[in-house]
Amino acid sequence: MTDSRPLVLGVLGSPRAQSNTGLLLERVLAGAAAAGARAESIALRALHYESCRHCGGCDETGRCVVQDDLASLYDRIRAARHLVLASPVHFSGVSGETKAMIDRAQAFWVAAYRLKAPVSEVSGERRGLFVATCGGGDRRVFAWAAHPVRAFFNSTGFSYWGELFEADTDRPPPVRARAEALSRAEEMGRRLLGENAPGVGGENP
Ligand SMILES: Cc1cc2nc3c(=O)[nH]c(=O)nc-3n(C[C@H](O)[C@H](O)[C@H](O)COP(=O)(O)O)c2cc1C
Repeated sequence: MTDSRPLVLGVLGSPRAQSNTGLLLERVLAGAAAAGARAESIALRALHYESCRHCGGCDETGRCVVQDDLASLYDRIRAARHLVLASPVHFSGVSGETKAMIDRAQAFWVAAYRLKAPVSEVSGERRGLFVATCGGGDRRVFAWAAHPVRAFFNSTGFSYWGELFEADTDRPPPVRARAEALSRAEEMGRRLLGENAPGVGGENP
């Protein structure tokens, strides 16, 4: 039997198993599942992949020629109704794992902007939600990290619908004890499925 629930795909870019960002992503997906989604998540740290070679192999087809673990991840991204990208802030940007994955979306960029070809068969609004954490208190890093994420969502066919940021994670209390942050994440996951639910802005409304 086919599963008709909308797929909400979470992609986690933290190199850590016990991840602050992962904890928020889990809550977002729990909220989405409670609202009727088929929620799945993939941790980039478990995958083996290269960054973009800039080989031009996608220029004619909009498909990446590199056959590594990102090939199946990108199939899941094509199939997703909504996408939640979760990354810690590393040196004022997304993590290296996340950025390397984003750069491989060059094939989507070629399809969308050069070939004017559809990047997904999923019709209707596809929402992108960016989740990020940073250890310090300078929240400007979220806006910096969000730049490539916006471009990534644009190329892969998602709107930059919302963002969920948690700062000061290197100071107590630990994120797992921040009830308000966790319930905000769950609420965001529920809203992701809501008809006409406006995205909730943080630093970048
Ligand atoms: C390599 C590296 C670079 C980091 N750079 C920053 C930074 O520029 N600004 C900041 O506030 N925190 C920075 N941090 C702290 C992380 O953003 C913070 O601990 C985050 O919550 C980790 O998320 P995670 O548990 O999901 O991996 C950095 C941590 C690492 C390991």
